[in-house]
Amino acid sequence: MRLLITGGAGCLGSNLVERYLPQGCEILVIDNFATSRREVFPELPGLMVVEGSIADRDLVKRNSIASDRLMSSTAQPPTRIRRTGTRTPRPMSLARSM
Ligand SMILES: NC(=O)c1ccc[n+]([C@@H]2O[C@H](COP(=O)([O-])OP(=O)(O)OC[C@H]3O[C@@H](n4cnc5c(N)ncnc54)[C@H](O)[C@@H]3O)[C@@H](O)[C@H]2O)c1
Repeated sequence: MRLLITGGAGCLGSNLVERYLPQGCEILVIDNFATSRREVFPELPGLMVVEGSIADRDLVKRNSIASDRLMSSTAQPPTRIRRTGTRTPRPMSLARSM
């Protein structure tokens, strides 16, 4: 199974990687490293890390097509940002719209 994990370098996301990678899943992480660091991931077979934001619809769409499951552990933006109309799209909504 191929998994796309957004926010995969964070606390919850990295636990998902640790759980599913040993089970033989191929995992693609999309993370902008806003509150985490790329260095949390060593080079591991079956794990690919892409630096980018889930606000980038094309990036998420491109990588969702090649994935069987999407798991989102991306932090929600602060309310203040949501009101300005520049909110971060929810990955599940994006996935459903594909
Ligand atoms: N940790 C918990 O125990 C817990 C419990 C319940 C709910 N949650 C919720 O789960 C979510 C994740 O929690 P966490 O503790 O893993 O947070 P975290 O900050 O450790 O991880 C969030 C990850 O998302 C990344 N990120 C942020 N904005 C992004 C964007 N626009 N595009 C791509 N990546 C982005 C960050 O760089 C980080 O790696 C949060 O919404 C949190 O409120 C967490």
